[in-house]
Amino acid sequence: MMKSILEGHEFSMLSIDLRGKRALVAGVADDGGFGWAIAKALAEAGATVCTGTWPPALNIFKTMLERGKFDDSRKMNDGSLLGFERIYPLDAAYDTLADAPEDVRTNRRYAGVGDFSIAGLAQRLAQDFGDKAIDIVVHSLANGPEVKKPLLETSRSGYLTAISVSAYSLVSMVSYLAPLMRPHGSVLSLSYLAALRVCPGYGGGMSSAKAALESDTRTLAFEAGRKYGIRVNAISAGPWASRAASAIGIIDETMRYTAANAPLQEQVQPEDVGATAAFLASSLGAGITGTVLFVDKGYHTMGKATEERYSAP
Ligand SMILES: NC(=O)c1ccc[n+]([C@@H]2O[C@H](COP(=O)([O-])OP(=O)(O)OC[C@H]3O[C@@H](n4cnc5c(N)ncnc54)[C@H](O)[C@@H]3O)[C@@H](O)[C@H]2O)c1
Repeated sequence: MMKSILEGHEFSMLSIDLRGKRALVAGVADDGGFGWAIAKALAEAGATVCTGTWPPALNIFKTMLERGKFDDSRKMNDGSLLGFERIYPLDAAYDTLADAPEDVRTNRRYAGVGDFSIAGLAQRLAQDFGDKAIDIVVHSLANGPEVKKPLLETSRSGYLTAISVSAYSLVSMVSYLAPLMRPHGSVLSLSYLAALRVCPGYGGGMSSAKAALESDTRTLAFEAGRKYGIRVNAISAGPWASRAASAIGIIDETMRYTAANAPLQEQVQPEDVGATAAFLASSLGAGITGTVLFVDKGYHTMGKATEERYSAP
């Protein structure tokens, strides 16, 4: 007999229910990006949320949280404020602390935060919550030091750093964190259309990194699915003026152009991405793995740009 999708749910309405689930969202350092919106959506659905925050941004993030600077964005539907169970230091460029060069380890923004590597994060999660206590892992981080340079002018080291921080970091996070995840857990990363199509201005090997990220999503879905029973997906998000995207320098024009030329002539909102992330992490997404889901108002489907409104004859 077919099992009802509502089985085990208290309510008769279809709902995204993440109560009892714990999430680690890597790549949250302010309230303006996709990581924050995803953390909030997961919490709205009942999950407890920890963050992995880049050490150079860690202190300012914690201070701003404590001083109430994010209180408006922290407001949840039930009136409470979004809270983080733990805020861990994480530099996803390093798999172990020994991989971090001396000048990074002794840098004043890194010194004193403890083991900020991916292995260190896994160790802290295991210490704090036990062996199998994570259900959702979100990789919402990227960095390409030469992103403003066309691919043709990108150095080998800039290219490899983009791939290392923005794509290999997902492979490493799955390899260190999947053993801590409960079966049916969900891993999610954030990609961009430049993985598949030419997006001038998104340089430095970042397009290559997103292509690798999407390909790895499929292979990791297979390997981690068989080994740990978890799912691995990516959301390819439309452009949004987060802190990271604003640093690229073309985000306003990209947002305007994309919204004007998409089937739905609207700006993608971080909340759109957050809601899709919560859905994918929930039991409603139980059948979805190895997928790149576009949350871009349909822009990726266009073969010929037009800003005109179309009305059927
Ligand atoms: N904003 C967009 O237009 C857009 C579109 C599609 C996909 N994305 C992707 O969404 C994800 C989140 O980016 P965002 O745009 O929301 O910006 P954001 O600034 O909110 O998030 C990027 C985060 O990455 C962190 N980070 C950078 N290097 C790191 C490292 N070595 N270790 C750990 N953390 C590091 C930053 O501190 C920051 O918190 C990225 O993967 C990005 O490529 C963004």
